[in-house]
Amino acid sequence: MSKTASEWTKRPNHQVIPYVDSRIYSDEQIFEEEIAKIWKKVWLLTVHESEIPNNLDYRTLTIAREPIVIVRGPDAKVRAFLNVCPHRGNIVVRHPAGNLSVAEPSGTTNHMTCMFHAWQFDAYGKCVDIPRAKQGYQDRLTKKDVGLRELPCEVAYGGFVWVTLDEQAGSLQSFIGNALDMLHTELHTEPLEVFHYHKAIIPSNYKLWHDTNSEFYHDYMHYFNRATGMMHPGYFQRKYTPFPNGHASVGSMEIKYDAYEGAASRDLSFPGMQRNGWKLIDLFPGSTYNLRGSSLRIDTMTPISANQVMIEFRGLGLKSDSAEVREQRIRDHNTIWGPFGRNLHEDLLGITGQGVAMRPGTETRTILHGRVEDSTIHDEVGMRHFYDEWARRMGRSPMDPSQPYGMAAE
Ligand code: FES
Ligand SMILES: [Fe+2]
Repeated sequence: MSKTASEWTKRPNHQVIPYVDSRIYSDEQIFEEEIAKIWKKVWLLTVHESEIPNNLDYRTLTIAREPIVIVRGPDAKVRAFLNVCPHRGNIVVRHPAGNLSVAEPSGTTNHMTCMFHAWQFDAYGKCVDIPRAKQGYQDRLTKKDVGLRELPCEVAYGGFVWVTLDEQAGSLQSFIGNALDMLHTELHTEPLEVFHYHKAIIPSNYKLWHDTNSEFYHDYMHYFNRATGMMHPGYFQRKYTPFPNGHASVGSMEIKYDAYEGAASRDLSFPGMQRNGWKLIDLFPGSTYNLRGSSLRIDTMTPISANQVMIEFRGLGLKSDSAEVREQRIRDHNTIWGPFGRNLHEDLLGITGQGVAMRPGTETRTILHGRVEDSTIHDEVGMRHFYDEWARRMGRSPMDPSQPYGMAAE
């Protein structure tokens, strides 16, 4: 039966049917709070070490609106800096990627040079030149008084570069805990290498991407997944395991790739991974390790506004791959996850539709997170676990964000 306005807006009993309030996806003020209380506070997966393989290679990116530069030093150590000049706040390194041996205009090789007044910094973040320093500053300010702000940075869990803006964030290991244990052998036996990168900027809230990655009930949307997964033994046994700090994993299963016409089984794998296996781990607040036998997909999110997110997709194989093996991994990856693959664009379309229906200013709705199936694959426990952590960090109830955490019926 269709519903009247008052019936449609009536909330279910949360103890019976868990839900969240759509304002957590559409409200700009809540988004600003998320930037401050979550994105500026946690460890975030950024680039892979193979994207900056040589000394003085760099990559720039943005975390919680703050420009960041990641540089491999002359000592081969990877460091992260706020990419902001201590002089008058200009962005220092402007290219998305490169090597510092190529000097900026008005700069010197091996240095990062701010284009505005040509202050220069080395790959350790030290200020190495201030033009006409003595004339302007006399002895009131020297190079030692200024430098780039270095951020906590670690290379870990498969060679990824992790960064946090918060020096009080605690260790990366305490943030991740045991969440990535399921992939320990796959990630640590051999060095990995990025072979694929693309990104999507989607008019939707970042949490909706997390949600679609963390529930498999939407396999109804993916014909490929239905044909190769849902129809086969083991699928409904796959179980969620929640970990502290909002992370969750979904147990392994074997995929029947050859059940899809034109697809072939994946003879290649990762060390420790069963042939045609599939393991997935969602990390709070916005990255995913997704290993389908022969290729690892890593999603990272950069929230732009309540209704816009950039999602970056990387495909990885083993650094030791021969050209032939690498070609096969790329084929396997793109069959399902490339821009013309059989899966990923469908997820992007799904959350774009949600983004249209939950734009800022749309009426408040109830978004159901209520499937309970003994933590198996169509259970929505992964989302509920994520929003428990969200509530704890935000101090707000996700089912009524005008209420403080704990005041509603969590
Ligand atoms: S703002 Fe960078 S040198 Fe002046
Ligand atoms: Fe999906």
